[in-house]
Amino acid sequence: MPTIVIIGAQWGDEGKGKIVDYLTEKCDYVVRFQGGCNAGHTVVVDNEKYVLHLIPSGILHKDKKCIIGNGVVLDPLGLLKEIEILQNKGIEINDNLFIAKNCHIIMPYHIAIEEQSEKRKKIGTTKKGIGPCYTDKIARNGVRAVDLLYPETLRYKIKANLEILNFLLKNLYNAEELNEEKIFNDYIFYAEKMRKYIVDADILINKAIDDQRNVLFEGAQGTLLDIDHGTYPYVTSSNTIAGGACTGIGVSPKKIDKIIGIVKAYTTRVGEGPFPTEINDSLGEEIRKKGGEYGATTGRPRRCGWLDIVGLRHAVRINGFTGIAITKIDVLDGMDKLKVCIGYKYGSEILEDFPKEIEILQNCVPIYEELPGWKESTVGIKDYEKLPKNAKRYLQFIEDTLKVKIQIISTGQKRNEIIIKETPF
Ligand code: IMP
Repeated sequence: MPTIVIIGAQWGDEGKGKIVDYLTEKCDYVVRFQGGCNAGHTVVVDNEKYVLHLIPSGILHKDKKCIIGNGVVLDPLGLLKEIEILQNKGIEINDNLFIAKNCHIIMPYHIAIEEQSEKRKKIGTTKKGIGPCYTDKIARNGVRAVDLLYPETLRYKIKANLEILNFLLKNLYNAEELNEEKIFNDYIFYAEKMRKYIVDADILINKAIDDQRNVLFEGAQGTLLDIDHGTYPYVTSSNTIAGGACTGIGVSPKKIDKIIGIVKAYTTRVGEGPFPTEINDSLGEEIRKKGGEYGATTGRPRRCGWLDIVGLRHAVRINGFTGIAITKIDVLDGMDKLKVCIGYKYGSEILEDFPKEIEILQNCVPIYEELPGWKESTVGIKDYEKLPKNAKRYLQFIEDTLKVKIQIISTGQKRNEIIIKETPF
């Protein structure tokens, strides 16, 4: 019985939600292991659109257990709102949702500090308090889910953190201070609603794996946004790569069977930071419109560009993908030709490996290989052989250059618009 990790291979928004949703059919447990409500996974079921930020999309299936692991930073208000929206749509949330006791909690001061620091740093964050919450975690000042169950600890931590952060808000940022009593009361209220979900998630998941259950680890964001291996500092604050699945819930690397990379047929990025294959003309706009490339969390237009094999090779290396899922191939329908970046030119140098230097990434010139496009529609195709000849050629090119098998191809938004070339199970 496999354990499968799903990882975004680019800068997030690769369409992971749909692939996770599809694979969940065969899984018993779905685990989120990093990030928070900066993520937005869009899933369309029976023409109903669901956007999930924190809860694993497995929640949309009956009898699946969904776990929010310790690697996640959880905003209680966001979670409770998400639960309410899902319940209003008839989705049952009861004994199918679990929150790790050691998962860190986003506090109002995280959001307030980020609001201010973004004015100076300009990373283009989602302003959900993600970075400051991880900062507190690493600095050992964080509030964890388990602390919500112990009012005295909660109060002490809020007080200690506010002493410092209110000083910063007032004296450095000239912003309004936050009220300790209000935060405490609000969080005690959230705690009562969340209490039933808070568990020893590491024990739960290890037992499930030992009992031969199928487990899916649902990554958020993407490899190039990884805090260590992404385009630092234009990254998110967590380990978005496959290794994060182990630390973000507490399972041994020995227990991971498969790692599937999700690759969008072109590239997008939200927020600031280098993007060598970005298309800055009307074609970029056309792809954005056709692909619905607007942030699921912030509504911001996504920057669009050609497929970048250099970045993908890095993702293959860091994650060790055992297979790939290609999404949104249908967005490329109707194009005369397609460009794929196979290297970067920087001065007189040709680079085949993704550089660590932000300066190089910002100034390199992509080297493109041109492939013929296709005029036919690929929307809803379920059989690989029915794809247009040039679409197959495009896919084959990706497979050959990355040397990883393409197992799944998504051909539309709906659940059943998918080609399973090779089952990942
Ligand atoms: P943060 O995660 O809010 O700290 O934002 C840091 C960077 O990651 C910004 O460039 C965001 O736009 C980007 N980011 C965060 N979450 C997502 C996501 O789910 N998809 C795409 N980009 C994201």
